[in-house]
Amino acid sequence: MNRTHSTSNSPPKPGAAGRLLLRQPDDWHVHLRDGVVLKSVANYTARQFARAIIMPNLAEPITTIAAAEAYHKRIVEAVAEDTSFTPLMTCYLTDSLAAREVEQGFASGVFTACKLYPANATTNSSFGVTDIKNVYSVLEAMQRIGMPLLVHGEVTDSEVDIFDREAVFIERVLSAVVDDFPVLKVVFEHATTADAVAFVEAGGANIAATITPHHLEFNRNAMFQGGIRPHYYCLPVAKREQHRLALRRAATSGSPKFFLGTDSAPHVINAKQSACGCAGIFNAPFALESYTKTFEEEGALDRLEAFASEYGPRFYGLPLNKGTIALVRQEQRVPDCLDCADTQIVPFHAGQKLSWQIERDHS
Ligand code: DOR
Ligand code: ZN
Repeated sequence: MNRTHSTSNSPPKPGAAGRLLLRQPDDWHVHLRDGVVLKSVANYTARQFARAIIMPNLAEPITTIAAAEAYHKRIVEAVAEDTSFTPLMTCYLTDSLAAREVEQGFASGVFTACKLYPANATTNSSFGVTDIKNVYSVLEAMQRIGMPLLVHGEVTDSEVDIFDREAVFIERVLSAVVDDFPVLKVVFEHATTADAVAFVEAGGANIAATITPHHLEFNRNAMFQGGIRPHYYCLPVAKREQHRLALRRAATSGSPKFFLGTDSAPHVINAKQSACGCAGIFNAPFALESYTKTFEEEGALDRLEAFASEYGPRFYGLPLNKGTIALVRQEQRVPDCLDCADTQIVPFHAGQKLSWQIERDHS
């Protein structure tokens, strides 16, 4: 359905409209962290999204039902009282994780999915999986019970060029997983390449992908524009322009295999602006506005709602949200920094102007 509303009496024209009314979206991939950072960032996500898939890569990863329940509680406590937000918890796969814990966690509704981090692929992934065969018994159980596997799709082999690590992961690891577990639900998280898009498109209805706002917005040149730009560094790293264009086509294609997942990954300013800066882009504060920019540029505003609010829940087998959210065409300048406890975090689009904003006091 085209929910674009024109401010005049003429028929709605996607792209020219002044207001967009969408079914409330969900974020199918977010890092909310813990402690004071959690308290500072949680409401940026909760004010836009009804639900979010919470990444389990805390300093001490979420590998048990008890840890997930306790983290869920801390998230709910961090969200403003007048905001309804459901965190969907994930379990961090390790070489030694018992299939029983995963099955029980899923059956009791504590875990929605499991996250596969190849060991040392990214932030807090040192407890990740060293060989995919080590989790085959868990994958077998997940396939049987219909529990989704969320994949960080990069090999960690230092011989493989960093820009090729996603494509090589598909070749060396994911193709075998999909062959060995043909009905396992798999989400290729934060797809960054045309190779990932092609892999997902060629797969069955059980294979999907999330796409971030930042990988839709810039290519790898952004990291080196006039100097080294740590706020454009994330993992998987942004690739060449041809890959960004493939992602934009996939996201706006109307295919239910591609849906919204921000991968918002806050790191405080000193951790980013450092001799060894952390990977991650904090896009939660303006995520929906950023996706709207891309969809408008692609002439696909009429497809934004399905990407943001329908394909994700359908893939996960969850009900669509009942509420709505409105975006209005009104320019806003993104702050250079946002406060986080006694320091700051630089948001995605810092210092830029965005032409849409979320309508306040929408009910
Ligand atoms: O850029 C990233 N940041 N990629 C990831 O996979 C992890 C995330 C984080 O947790 O900082
Ligand atoms: Zn992530």
